[in-house]
Amino acid sequence: MAILKVARMGHPVLREKCKPIDPNQITGPEVQRLIRDMLETMFEYNGVGLAAPQVYTPVRLAIAGGEVDQEGRPRLRVLINPEITVLDKNRREGMYEGCLSVPGLRGYVERPAHIRVQAFNEKGQRIDLELEGYPAIVMQHECDHLDGILYVDRIEDPSKLGFEEEVHRYHDLGERDDDGDDDDDDNDDEDDDDEEDD
Ligand code: NI
Repeated sequence: MAILKVARMGHPVLREKCKPIDPNQITGPEVQRLIRDMLETMFEYNGVGLAAPQVYTPVRLAIAGGEVDQEGRPRLRVLINPEITVLDKNRREGMYEGCLSVPGLRGYVERPAHIRVQAFNEKGQRIDLELEGYPAIVMQHECDHLDGILYVDRIEDPSKLGFEEEVHRYHDLGERDDDGDDDDDDNDDEDDDDEEDD
């Protein structure tokens, strides 16, 4: 296992259209090692998600969190070759997003709030799920990375980009409470800042 270096905005690897992974290779040692190293890297930096191009590997693999299971424990999903379908074009949700590749900044982005995701998981099995609210936002942020898109590209109002300390001080971080998500977004302590980076 290894903690990998995270590419920062400006590095061309973050702008690549990533290549699909051969489903037959998913359980092989190379992909499995990448998954383990990405998980370790994500935990080290308190990310809520991480995409392979962020660790200089332009393939269609992402890890997305922001969900909890029935016992309330955080749930992470490994997604390979994910495809997103927007299920409700009229329902959007906005929040101040962060990204490990854009350290220290936050920007307000609105995205569709109800999506379907089809992908392979880390065992090479097909998964097909519906997500709403915060987990749907995290998933779209991570999948954007696979197409070379960063959240800053999706900020409609450039005045809503700022340093995270100032954003926490002067802005409501999002609308997550409206959707019954956890209370972390109202908590101003430093740990929560970090948890929201993806
Ligand atoms: Ni990101």
